[in-house]
Amino acid sequence: MATGESKAPNELVELLSKKVIGQPNALKFIVPYIEMYQAGLAPEGRPVGVFLLLGPTGTGKTRTVEVLAEVLHGSQSNYLRIDCGEFQIEHEVAKLVGAPPGYLGHRETQPMLSQQKLASVTSERSDLALVLLDEIEKAAPSLTRLLLGILDKATLRLGDNTAVNFEKTLIFLTSNLGAREMMKELNPSFGFQSGTPRDKEELGSKLESIALAAVRKKFSPEFVNRIDAVVTYRPLDAESLATILDQQIGELQQHVNTRLGARCFRIEVTPESRKFLLEKGTSQEYGARELKRTIHRFLTQPLATLVASGQIEPGAHVAAEVDSSGDRLQMRTVSVDKPAQPAPANPTVLLVDDNRDLLRFLEHLMVGAHWRILTAESGQQALAAVASQTPDAALLDYMLPDLNGLELALEMQKRLPRLQIILMTGANLAAEEELVCRRNGFPLLQKPFLAQDIMSLIRNRLSGAAACPA
Ligand SMILES: Nc1ncnc2c1ncn2[C@@H]1O[C@H](COP(=O)(O)OP(=O)(O)OP(=O)(O)O)[C@@H](O)[C@H]1O
Ligand SMILES: [Mg+2]
Repeated sequence: MATGESKAPNELVELLSKKVIGQPNALKFIVPYIEMYQAGLAPEGRPVGVFLLLGPTGTGKTRTVEVLAEVLHGSQSNYLRIDCGEFQIEHEVAKLVGAPPGYLGHRETQPMLSQQKLASVTSERSDLALVLLDEIEKAAPSLTRLLLGILDKATLRLGDNTAVNFEKTLIFLTSNLGAREMMKELNPSFGFQSGTPRDKEELGSKLESIALAAVRKKFSPEFVNRIDAVVTYRPLDAESLATILDQQIGELQQHVNTRLGARCFRIEVTPESRKFLLEKGTSQEYGARELKRTIHRFLTQPLATLVASGQIEPGAHVAAEVDSSGDRLQMRTVSVDKPAQPAPANPTVLLVDDNRDLLRFLEHLMVGAHWRILTAESGQQALAAVASQTPDAALLDYMLPDLNGLELALEMQKRLPRLQIILMTGANLAAEEELVCRRNGFPLLQKPFLAQDIMSLIRNRLSGAAACPA
């Protein structure tokens, strides 16, 4: 079984580096600690890992934690974030740990850091909680003291004197310490540096030493000693920014495919438009921070308006081009792919999962849409079903009692080459398995999913899937 728990470390680095672009050092520092925990070798009495993330804004510090949350727990919001800027005044720290008994209403104050809060950001897949403390340089001294206790002994005493155990956590501290000096280094015209371009390595190590000096100046040696690794994020170069843009455009296309289903269309962003988006959405100063907003403003919103007013036909191939004024993108329908054959209005769908409740639920939903449903609870039952029937689509769970879903998919494809097969999984597949899925055109549906997404995904596959790029 491939789970977040059993992922081989290299695989984890590979997966993460696909999503956090241009920061290989960051991942190399962090992943060994996860590996150590998964192997059961993390030392007791302290958090699994404590990382201080430094570096210019918009370079992927928060993104790293989000991606780890996605990989470990299946959702990029499954981590606990504390904004230390909110706890600059001593008495506000009570919000974090709850008020001590004796204070009126202390029972009503729910501490922000409690054992339940930590448990709420773990998942079936992994019990390792991710905690992000943003902008720690802004924390009040009493918060820094509490933090010392967490970093040192993995315990936090709450107002009511109960203890919270942090042994199963990875703690990320972020800070923009040294950011100003780093900016001067990055943008010499701001400061006193000469304007000669330097190589990346040299710049990287210069930023690292600026960051470390700032850390040593601000925090006590005992605090610094409890940090496992100080990771300095490097400014993103043009190539990394372009990769991030490609990724975000890919996500937009994916979103169009799943949300619009059979009405989906293909977006082509011309090289000139990519350049336009990069110029508007990225900078040395803010990294990729503004890129999402820029794509939203110049691409997503205009497309949404056209879709809403029916000006984009299903199957259209839409080019986003820079208009003559040069300050916006305009959308032009280049061609329209008609589906090779109409999708069956009442398709037959085979559902394979040993989770009966899920089967019944999906069956009920699809029968409600006048689809014909076959169900099977094992690989053998599924193969028996396709021996006598020819469904249009099959939805296979990865974890089956006899076969795994991917083996079943390959076997079914041999028998029914026209069958549209979709795999569902609650865990991450191994990298090679994902590759097999991609090569064979099996979309992977991550559990949990929305009912409407699975319905449109099936409709989309059935209605000339060729019109919707994967
Ligand atoms: N290395 C990266 N790989 C992929 N996307 C990135 C990367 N860096 C930034 N982004 C994009 O920019 C957005 C902002 O980045 P992020 O929140 O990680 O910045 P940060 O380093 O935490 O900055 P700050 O110091 O301001 O908190 C992300 O949501 C993501 O879309
Ligand atoms: Mg951040």
